[in-house]
Amino acid sequence: MKQLDINGTTLSVADEGEGHPVLLVHGFPLSHAMWSAQIKALTPAFRMIAPDLRGFGANDAVEGTLSMEQLADDLAAILDALEIDQPITYCGLSMGGYIACDFLRKHADRLQSLILCDTRAGADSEEGIRNRHKLAETVMTHGSEACSRIMLPNLFAENSDAALVKALRSIINVTAPSTIAAALMGMATRPDSTDMLPSIKVPTLIIVGEHDNISTASEMRSMSEAIPNCIFKEIADAGHMAPMEQPSDVNNAIVAFLQSSQC
Ligand code: MLT
Repeated sequence: MKQLDINGTTLSVADEGEGHPVLLVHGFPLSHAMWSAQIKALTPAFRMIAPDLRGFGANDAVEGTLSMEQLADDLAAILDALEIDQPITYCGLSMGGYIACDFLRKHADRLQSLILCDTRAGADSEEGIRNRHKLAETVMTHGSEACSRIMLPNLFAENSDAALVKALRSIINVTAPSTIAAALMGMATRPDSTDMLPSIKVPTLIIVGEHDNISTASEMRSMSEAIPNCIFKEIADAGHMAPMEQPSDVNNAIVAFLQSSQC
């Protein structure tokens, strides 16, 4: 992992392989480790860049509100620090997709293509915002284990591999409670980005696990219909963590998309 000075903090960034750059942006409250299967399989052909976002993984904890805009600006600064000036493919899962909306608002010129995995364009409902506040309070009182206990049952399809669940639990449990709370506040205040979908100019791939209960296949299919140049791919036997649950199917979809969009 490289240690990069980014916008007043130090961020840990995996940067492997050569060729067209693919920026992998993890979900909440995870780390770059969720992309291990993609980094391993695609590295021979592509340059895979997978940061631990501010506060997550190996990075220092954060407090307050961690906005999606701040995280998008960090990603642009990471590309600058790595001296990547050619257009990239941005691939984000869930919170990584929320951040993509701010990346599109502020740094669209850096994009060659876009991959949105198991994510949503809409803002949180009133109830969703209340649940974020409740979870933040619970985590600040009872620790990050409370977050993994509450979230894990919704992240995978039924009968998922116990080793995957264990791996994800470890990633969540080492995330600082204050970072979890700060990201929850950032997600709760993110704007509705549905209206921007028709203005996305780059080739886009949407990937969703057929059993994703957080960002459902029907919601993501509607997103794909609103984006002008978009391919929709539903992954069988997968939930919200499709890239971890069915890595071969997800990798094949990503490679076919990158080849078809001439990366
Ligand atoms: C994620 O996987 O990033 C989360 O499920 C996002 C969310 O809580 O909305």
